Amino acid sequence: MIRIFFAVALLIGGSQAEPPLEGDAENGKTLYKQYTCYGCHGYTGETGFATRLNPPRMRQGRFITYLRNPTNPTRMPPYQQSEVSDQKLANIYAYLRSLPSASPDAESIPLLQAILGKQ
Ligand code: HEC
Repeated sequence: MIRIFFAVALLIGGSQAEPPLEGDAENGKTLYKQYTCYGCHGYTGETGFATRLNPPRMRQGRFITYLRNPTNPTRMPPYQQSEVSDQKLANIYAYLRSLPSASPDAESIPLLQAILGKQ
């Protein structure tokens, strides 16, 4: 009985998992500016006052769901389907994934290494 339950749960769960959309990072770059994400998250996704987005912590599906319904909507504005399509969010996601990190490695900061007692 329990096994049947798990099999059904797996089937339902599996059929709901949509494959990720193909994202266009170049277009995502334009959208990231257009929808003012940079205003809070910074141009490189890691220099704003808000949560670091580079590299993205979430997978694409979760990212889109989060943007539609952020846990803290007074801080992170929700973006509805009517304003930004899933495809556009997939493009923004692809852009974030394509970004190199602007932060230098800890090893390349002598003062930090001195504080850590490694030099
Ligand atoms: C008005 C400022 C503001 C704007 C504009 C904004 N964000 Fe945010 N965002 C935030 C804040 C603040 C948080 C952290 C929310 C919290 O504390 O729960 C956040 C959280 C997030 C998270 C969750 C990050 C994580 O790892 O938990 C994602 C993803 C995200 N934003 C993406 C975007 C994208 C993409 C855009 C543009 C379409 C955008 N945000 C626009 C302020 C903003």
